[in-house]
Amino acid sequence: MSRTPLIAGNWKMNGRRAMAADWVAAVANAIPIGVEALVCPPFPYMDVIRGGTGGSRLGLGGQNLAEEADGAYTGGVSGEMLVDLGCTHVIVGHSERRLSGEDDQQVARKCSRARDAGLMPILCVGETLAQREAGETFNVVSRQIRSVLDGESEALLDGLILAYEPVWAIGTGHTASPEQAQEVHAALRELVAGYDAGLAESLRVLYGGSVKADNAASLLAQPDIDGGLIGGASLDADSFLAICQAAAS
Ligand code: 13P
Repeated sequence: MSRTPLIAGNWKMNGRRAMAADWVAAVANAIPIGVEALVCPPFPYMDVIRGGTGGSRLGLGGQNLAEEADGAYTGGVSGEMLVDLGCTHVIVGHSERRLSGEDDQQVARKCSRARDAGLMPILCVGETLAQREAGETFNVVSRQIRSVLDGESEALLDGLILAYEPVWAIGTGHTASPEQAQEVHAALRELVAGYDAGLAESLRVLYGGSVKADNAASLLAQPDIDGGLIGGASLDADSFLAICQAAAS
């Protein structure tokens, strides 16, 4: 089955209004055919990006959402607000949020909240270096996925996107080798097949962790790597587009 590759940029807590305006002007109408592209900017810059995407194929996603629907949750941003801003996707369970205390149960609640609000969650999983060295990689990523999928309806699984982001590869310049990433991606697809074999075939599993324009092609050539979740390299319009190009070809 051929899965359309997805390249999602995660700006994390970076950027300014002017940078966002320049970035979207350069990227929006330059996405190559054969790839889906999405940017997840900080909340304050969503509108700037949205303003520049009109008629283009560039999608918009959130980096996080509240566990709750609208209400008395100071500082929160609900899934409904993201939809209102034009988002179609939201990153859930990024390791940078897990490291600041988000647990598997909260990640699971956020995934179902995202679906209830009409957003496609991009569920992030990944092991730390210590966990990899202890041979715990598969246990860790399986637990992270099972805690979301167990007891959930098929509606959550349908359209779910996974992102394998080894913590040791994020922002370090030490990307996983294509073989290391492929091994985990294949295992994730097999795990999902245990819930629904058909959906596992169409499931997109993105790789994230020091993806750059010069290493994207070899990662994306792997049979179970269906796109990328790009941090640092997504901030530069040219390198983001070069990664999109690598995914399209
Ligand atoms: P880097 O591409 O900067 O390593 O970040 C990856 C990431 O965390 C994307 O969500």
